[in-house]
Amino acid sequence: MNKNILVTGGAGFIGSHAIRYLVNQYPDYKIINLDKLTYAGNLENLTDIEGYSNYEFVKGDIYDAPFLNELFDNYAFDGIIHLAAESHVDRSITDPNEFIKTNVVGTVNLLNVAKSHWQDDYKGKLFYHVSTDEVYGSLGEEGYFTEETPYDPKSPYSASKASSDHMVRAYYNTYGLPVIVSNCSNNYGPNQFPEKLIPLFINNIKNNRELPVYGKGENIRDWLYVEDHAKAIDLIYHHGRLGETYNIGGDNEWKNIDLIRKLCEIMDRKLDRKPGTSAKLIKFVKDRAGHDMRYAIDCSKLKNELGWKQEVSFEEGLEKTVDWYLDNQEWLNHVLTGEYEEYYRKQYLER
Ligand code: NAD
Ligand code: TYD
Repeated sequence: MNKNILVTGGAGFIGSHAIRYLVNQYPDYKIINLDKLTYAGNLENLTDIEGYSNYEFVKGDIYDAPFLNELFDNYAFDGIIHLAAESHVDRSITDPNEFIKTNVVGTVNLLNVAKSHWQDDYKGKLFYHVSTDEVYGSLGEEGYFTEETPYDPKSPYSASKASSDHMVRAYYNTYGLPVIVSNCSNNYGPNQFPEKLIPLFINNIKNNRELPVYGKGENIRDWLYVEDHAKAIDLIYHHGRLGETYNIGGDNEWKNIDLIRKLCEIMDRKLDRKPGTSAKLIKFVKDRAGHDMRYAIDCSKLKNELGWKQEVSFEEGLEKTVDWYLDNQEWLNHVLTGEYEEYYRKQYLER
């Protein structure tokens, strides 16, 4: 194998797509997937590649520094693509502490272990930190987040990610650790845990459950198909410049309520329901605390410098996503366990 790459959080939504892309693209790399398998981590996301000789799974927690040390003693990692995180804003509002443990302390643990194991020779090494556009805060009607936009995180989730981004850059600046950071907009696609807007609403429509739209549904997000993010990660890992930040986005802004109505139309068609049936499930509920109004990414740096572009249109991506959830009821059944019902009850039924 000519490279050992550690991917953290590879059993999650984006991590599993990134790993699938990498193991297929680079048969001569060994991809090691380190994941704690929290409620969001699911090895069923990777059943198609689990037997590959260039793929290996290790269960572990990035909060556990001695464990990380041992892992790095056992493998000579050339690079790290760090995705492991607590990732849902609503959960961060209810319980911020896990976000600090994994997103902040876990990231610092990884930086420390990379620094101590690589310090004799940084050449060819890379710590690539995958982050979110939410660190930039919230936009008004105009403008876009660029790589120069000052950080202004508003939720415990985005504050924890901002903190980890700062630590990654501090290790570059202070110790010369070779790092790159990318900040991406909202992803959607197969394998996303049904707590996030799109898979939650697909599942609710299917089960004739209410669709809880926060506030007036006027908040805007910029949606990117997850495989386009996976390709950007590959490109940035191999061709990004050290110490740099790259914004990744969909150039695809949608007001929540418009997106939800579109999803309802697609679901009516797929489920052979009379047009307008699913939209009747829409229910405006109490707004999310501190709800960011608008995210929109300027990803021209990534496009101009590395030649990346979005390949999957929103129309095509939504169709593929809906089809995947309708065809994978067993996957859903396995994640809609007791923990999920408990979360759902607290988040939506007892608010
Ligand atoms: P996810 O919640 O689907 O997956 C996170 C994974 O990390 C899970 O497999 C989980 O088991 C693992 N994990 C959590 N805590 C861990 C720990 N302490 N040690 C080891 N593994 C742990 O998240 P996602 O949506 O795939 O996001 C992945 C990364 O991309 C995150 O860093 C997130 O901030 C970032 N991101 C996500 C989006 C998005 O729209 N989902 C957009 C931009 C950036
Ligand atoms: P989400 O998928 O949680 O992503 P993020 O908050 O990280 O952008 O939410 C996307 C948008 O959908 C956001 O504006 C909040 C809104 N939303 C609802 O209106 N109802 C819901 O039940 C959820 C989960 C989200």
